[in-house]
Amino acid sequence: MVFPDLEAVLGIEQVSFVQPWTRGAFVQELIKSYAVLRVAEIGSRIAGYVIAWLIEDELHIANVAVHPEFRRRGIAERLILTVLAEDPRIRWAGLEVRRGNAAARAMYRKLGFEETGVRERYYTTEGEDAILMTLYVDAGESGNNDTL
Ligand SMILES: CC(C)(COP(=O)(O)OP(=O)(O)OC[C@H]1O[C@@H](n2cnc3c(N)ncnc32)[C@H](O)[C@@H]1OP(=O)(O)O)[C@@H](O)C(=O)NCCC(=O)NCCS
Repeated sequence: MVFPDLEAVLGIEQVSFVQPWTRGAFVQELIKSYAVLRVAEIGSRIAGYVIAWLIEDELHIANVAVHPEFRRRGIAERLILTVLAEDPRIRWAGLEVRRGNAAARAMYRKLGFEETGVRERYYTTEGEDAILMTLYVDAGESGNNDTL
Protein backbone atom coordinates (compact mmCIF):
# COMPACT_ATOMS: atom_id res chain seq x y z
CA MET A 1 0.00 0.00 0.00
CA VAL A 2 1.29 3.43 -0.97
CA PHE A 3 -0.17 6.93 -0.62
CA PRO A 4 -1.91 6.95 -4.05
CA ASP A 5 -3.87 3.83 -2.95
CA LEU A 6 -5.56 5.75 -0.12
CA GLU A 7 -8.76 6.79 -1.96
CA ALA A 8 -9.56 3.21 -2.99
CA VAL A 9 -8.58 1.83 0.40
CA LEU A 10 -10.77 4.37 2.24
CA GLY A 11 -13.68 3.47 -0.05
CA ILE A 12 -13.38 -0.20 0.95
CA GLU A 13 -12.88 0.70 4.61
CA GLN A 14 -16.06 2.78 4.67
CA VAL A 15 -18.28 0.04 3.25
CA SER A 16 -16.69 -2.63 5.43
CA PHE A 17 -16.81 -1.29 9.00
CA VAL A 18 -19.33 0.31 11.36
CA GLN A 19 -16.52 2.46 12.74
CA PRO A 20 -14.13 2.91 9.81
CA TRP A 21 -10.59 4.13 10.31
CA THR A 22 -10.05 7.73 9.20
CA ARG A 23 -7.71 8.91 6.45
CA GLY A 24 -5.39 10.17 9.21
CA ALA A 25 -5.27 6.70 10.74
CA PHE A 26 -4.17 5.20 7.40
CA VAL A 27 -1.57 7.94 6.95
CA GLN A 28 -0.14 7.10 10.38
CA GLU A 29 0.11 3.43 9.36
CA LEU A 30 1.86 4.34 6.10
CA ILE A 31 4.64 6.08 8.02
CA LYS A 32 5.04 3.63 10.94
CA SER A 33 8.29 1.69 10.77
CA TYR A 34 6.76 -1.54 12.11
CA ALA A 35 3.58 -1.55 10.00
CA VAL A 36 3.26 -3.99 7.13
CA LEU A 37 0.68 -2.80 4.58
CA ARG A 38 -0.31 -4.79 1.51
CA VAL A 39 -3.03 -4.40 -1.10
CA ALA A 40 -4.55 -7.03 -3.36
CA GLU A 41 -5.10 -5.83 -6.93
CA ILE A 42 -7.37 -7.22 -9.61
CA GLY A 43 -6.22 -5.61 -12.82
CA SER A 44 -5.62 -2.01 -11.83
CA ARG A 45 -8.30 -2.07 -9.11
CA ILE A 46 -7.62 -2.42 -5.41
CA ALA A 47 -9.77 -5.30 -4.16
CA GLY A 48 -8.61 -5.46 -0.54
CA TYR A 49 -5.86 -4.75 1.94
CA VAL A 50 -4.24 -5.86 5.14
CA ILE A 51 -2.40 -3.84 7.77
CA ALA A 52 -0.34 -5.69 10.34
CA TRP A 53 2.24 -4.72 12.95
CA LEU A 54 5.45 -6.64 13.35
CA ILE A 55 6.24 -6.46 17.07
CA GLU A 56 9.26 -8.63 17.89
CA ASP A 57 8.03 -12.16 17.08
CA GLU A 58 4.34 -11.26 16.81
CA LEU A 59 2.45 -10.26 13.70
CA HIS A 60 -0.56 -8.32 15.00
CA ILE A 61 -3.27 -8.07 12.37
CA ALA A 62 -4.71 -4.59 12.79
CA ASN A 63 -7.02 -4.28 9.77
CA VAL A 64 -8.13 -6.41 6.84
CA ALA A 65 -10.96 -5.79 4.40
CA VAL A 66 -12.06 -6.82 0.92
CA HIS A 67 -14.41 -4.87 -1.34
CA PRO A 68 -17.88 -6.50 -1.21
CA GLU A 69 -17.72 -7.20 -4.99
CA PHE A 70 -14.63 -9.34 -4.52
CA ARG A 71 -15.46 -11.28 -1.36
CA ARG A 72 -15.38 -15.10 -1.10
CA ARG A 73 -12.61 -15.42 -3.67
CA GLY A 74 -9.84 -16.14 -1.20
CA ILE A 75 -8.41 -12.61 -1.27
CA ALA A 76 -8.32 -11.96 2.49
CA GLU A 77 -6.94 -15.42 3.11
CA ARG A 78 -4.16 -14.79 0.61
CA LEU A 79 -3.36 -11.34 2.01
CA ILE A 80 -2.93 -12.76 5.52
CA LEU A 81 -0.89 -15.76 4.37
CA THR A 82 1.32 -13.39 2.39
CA VAL A 83 2.20 -11.17 5.37
CA LEU A 84 2.70 -14.21 7.62
CA ALA A 85 5.17 -15.73 5.16
CA GLU A 86 7.08 -12.51 4.52
CA ASP A 87 9.19 -12.42 7.65
CA PRO A 88 10.87 -15.44 9.26
CA ARG A 89 10.91 -13.68 12.67
CA ILE A 90 7.15 -14.19 13.01
CA ARG A 91 6.45 -16.91 15.62
CA TRP A 92 2.81 -16.10 16.24
CA ALA A 93 -0.01 -13.89 15.03
CA GLY A 94 -2.74 -12.24 17.07
CA LEU A 95 -5.80 -10.08 16.54
CA GLU A 96 -9.10 -8.89 18.00
CA VAL A 97 -12.36 -9.50 16.16
CA ARG A 98 -15.93 -8.51 17.01
CA ARG A 99 -17.95 -11.33 18.54
CA GLY A 100 -20.67 -10.77 15.90
CA ASN A 101 -18.29 -10.86 12.91
CA ALA A 102 -19.01 -14.43 11.82
CA ALA A 103 -17.32 -14.06 8.40
CA ALA A 104 -14.01 -12.89 9.86
CA ARG A 105 -14.06 -15.44 12.70
CA ALA A 106 -14.67 -18.22 10.15
CA MET A 107 -11.84 -16.94 7.98
CA TYR A 108 -9.34 -16.84 10.85
CA ARG A 109 -10.40 -20.32 12.01
CA LYS A 110 -9.87 -21.61 8.46
CA LEU A 111 -6.35 -20.16 8.59
CA GLY A 112 -5.70 -22.05 11.83
CA PHE A 113 -6.26 -19.27 14.38
CA GLU A 114 -7.76 -20.30 17.71
CA GLU A 115 -9.98 -18.23 19.95
CA THR A 116 -7.82 -17.59 23.00
CA GLY A 117 -9.64 -14.92 24.99
CA VAL A 118 -12.37 -12.32 25.24
CA ARG A 119 -12.15 -8.58 25.93
CA GLU A 120 -15.58 -7.70 27.21
CA ARG A 121 -17.23 -4.60 25.73
CA TYR A 122 -13.96 -3.76 23.93
CA TYR A 123 -15.81 -1.88 21.16
CA THR A 124 -17.14 0.86 23.38
CA THR A 125 -19.74 2.44 21.06
CA GLU A 126 -21.86 -0.70 20.79
CA GLY A 127 -20.46 -2.46 23.87
CA GLU A 128 -19.54 -5.47 21.72
CA ASP A 129 -16.98 -7.98 22.97
CA ALA A 130 -13.69 -8.61 21.16
CA ILE A 131 -12.62 -12.19 20.66
CA LEU A 132 -8.84 -12.63 20.78
CA MET A 133 -7.50 -15.04 18.19
CA THR A 134 -4.01 -16.50 18.00
CA LEU A 135 -2.02 -18.55 15.53
CA TYR A 136 1.31 -20.14 16.40
CA VAL A 137 3.57 -20.38 13.38
CA ASP A 138 5.52 -23.61 13.07
CA ALA A 139 8.85 -22.70 11.43
CA GLY A 140 10.52 -25.37 9.39
CA GLU A 141 14.27 -25.81 8.91
CA SER A 142 14.26 -23.01 6.37
CA GLY A 143 12.86 -20.60 8.95
CA ASN A 144 9.75 -20.14 6.86
CA ASN A 145 6.31 -21.19 8.05
CA ASP A 146 6.02 -24.51 6.27
CA THR A 147 2.67 -25.37 7.80
CA LEU A 148 1.02 -22.45 6.06
C1 LIG B 1 -13.80 -10.83 6.55
C2 LIG B 1 -13.39 -10.49 5.13
C3 LIG B 1 -12.08 -9.70 5.18
C4 LIG B 1 -13.15 -11.80 4.35
O1 LIG B 1 -12.65 -11.47 3.06
P1 LIG B 1 -12.79 -12.48 1.82
O2 LIG B 1 -11.76 -12.11 0.82
O3 LIG B 1 -14.20 -12.52 1.38
O4 LIG B 1 -12.44 -13.88 2.52
P2 LIG B 1 -11.91 -15.19 1.78
O5 LIG B 1 -12.60 -15.32 0.44
O6 LIG B 1 -10.43 -15.19 1.80
O7 LIG B 1 -12.51 -16.29 2.73
C5 LIG B 1 -11.68 -17.23 3.41
C6 LIG B 1 -12.59 -18.08 4.28
O8 LIG B 1 -13.19 -17.29 5.29
C7 LIG B 1 -14.51 -17.79 5.56
N1 LIG B 1 -15.48 -16.77 5.19
C8 LIG B 1 -15.27 -15.62 4.52
N2 LIG B 1 -16.42 -14.92 4.40
C9 LIG B 1 -17.37 -15.66 5.00
C10 LIG B 1 -18.76 -15.46 5.21
N3 LIG B 1 -19.39 -14.36 4.76
N4 LIG B 1 -19.43 -16.40 5.90
C11 LIG B 1 -18.80 -17.51 6.36
N5 LIG B 1 -17.49 -17.77 6.18
C12 LIG B 1 -16.78 -16.84 5.52
C13 LIG B 1 -14.67 -19.04 4.72
O9 LIG B 1 -14.17 -20.14 5.50
C14 LIG B 1 -13.73 -18.74 3.57
O10 LIG B 1 -13.29 -19.91 2.92
P3 LIG B 1 -14.22 -20.58 1.77
O11 LIG B 1 -14.65 -19.48 0.83
O12 LIG B 1 -13.29 -21.58 1.15
O13 LIG B 1 -15.38 -21.19 2.50
C15 LIG B 1 -14.50 -9.69 4.37
O14 LIG B 1 -15.74 -10.33 4.57
C16 LIG B 1 -14.61 -8.25 4.81
O15 LIG B 1 -13.94 -7.36 4.27
N6 LIG B 1 -15.45 -7.99 5.84
C17 LIG B 1 -15.61 -6.64 6.38
C18 LIG B 1 -14.35 -6.20 7.12
C19 LIG B 1 -14.01 -7.15 8.27
O16 LIG B 1 -14.88 -7.63 8.98
N7 LIG B 1 -12.69 -7.38 8.45
C20 LIG B 1 -12.18 -8.24 9.50
C21 LIG B 1 -11.97 -7.46 10.73
S1 LIG B 1 -11.29 -8.48 12.04
